[in-house]
Amino acid sequence: MPTYFNRDIFLQVSKEQVVLWNVREHRQYSIDSAHAKRLVELALESASLDASNPIDEALLNGGAISNAPYPPESWGWDALARIFHIGTSDIPQPSPPTSGAQWANSNLAACANAAKHPIPPARDTTRGDSLRLPPPDVMRLQTASFWECCKTRSTCREFTSKPTDLQDVSTVLYGSLAFLRERTENVHPSVPSSINNRRTSPSGGGLNASEAYVVFQNVAGAPSGLFHYNPISHTLGCIKHSLSPDWLSYALSDQYFSRELGFGVFLAGRLDRMWWKYPHSRAYRVSLLDIGHLSQTFLLCATACGLHTWLSGAFRDREVRTQLLIQDDGEQPLFFVGAGHGTGDELDPERRAILSNSESIGASP
Ligand SMILES: Cc1cc2nc3c(=O)[nH]c(=O)nc-3n(C[C@H](O)[C@H](O)[C@H](O)COP(=O)(O)O)c2cc1C
Repeated sequence: MPTYFNRDIFLQVSKEQVVLWNVREHRQYSIDSAHAKRLVELALESASLDASNPIDEALLNGGAISNAPYPPESWGWDALARIFHIGTSDIPQPSPPTSGAQWANSNLAACANAAKHPIPPARDTTRGDSLRLPPPDVMRLQTASFWECCKTRSTCREFTSKPTDLQDVSTVLYGSLAFLRERTENVHPSVPSSINNRRTSPSGGGLNASEAYVVFQNVAGAPSGLFHYNPISHTLGCIKHSLSPDWLSYALSDQYFSRELGFGVFLAGRLDRMWWKYPHSRAYRVSLLDIGHLSQTFLLCATACGLHTWLSGAFRDREVRTQLLIQDDGEQPLFFVGAGHGTGDELDPERRAILSNSESIGASP
């Protein structure tokens, strides 16, 4: 009899344990060696299914395998992305609320439960060297037309050698990443002070589970280097003085045109702060979305300051973590945004040269 394998099942092998995950059902089962061996055997000899064999019967009844084909699927990526997507969809609710009051009670109880332990603190780089930023020109952001910024923001892949003004850097960082005192003052007094900071972008659970690492390449009157942005004091804690001119483009997976950016920011998710409140891996989605919100606000603020912008999901993770001195798994760089003076061209010069004789271009990177 042929064997069909449930696509929602995967085996996790660890010391003295084989765990069978059913990602759709959000269930994990520890299985013994007889069942684990038989599953492997069936995978290699799928025609050997025997419903009268008690182990095969248990695997069939448990839904790990079937003797009939599963419905076809249209998933386009590999198993890893599927496991993540399905495994973080439709999280079971043991006792769904039947009224607003019940929802409110269980929400407040979950918050109180998280608050029993302190939230992992934000990264502190205030003890080392720091770089003072000039006061941000908030009027610049206030007077820029929101709609004009939305319309003119675009991805530029050709930057010039004109240095970026340090005050523009300060304004962009303040506008997109600083904790705004005026917002914090309005947060409900029941919110613990460890999570009552607010930025111009929303953040999942109000946790501000992110850090910003600033790269200076061509900023007027400032050395090149890597810094950590402190969103409370609006200062930059120095991580690395002076950078090789090629480091950023190497870190950004060889996207060579990033060499001319004035400055940029690696946005890192603080997964440990997410874990503090949200134990389910669905919160990984929230981490990515947090960073996406910060990214767009950064790009709009930079546009309001008359800068050209670029962004990248592609980078060398290990290299970036190493240079930013990030050691803990609870923090992960997730995205890069950059700005400077450019031509506004969406195509970098090298591709322009190649394409100058051809007629069309495929999908953008
Ligand atoms: C999540 C995300 C990742 C991106 N990654 C890259 C990248 O690695 N390199 C790049 O040159 N552009 C990248 N882009 C920019 C897109 O190619 C660009 O936004 C798109 O072509 C639309 O153009 P526009 O930004 O001018 O509207 C990324 C954009 C987003 C939203």
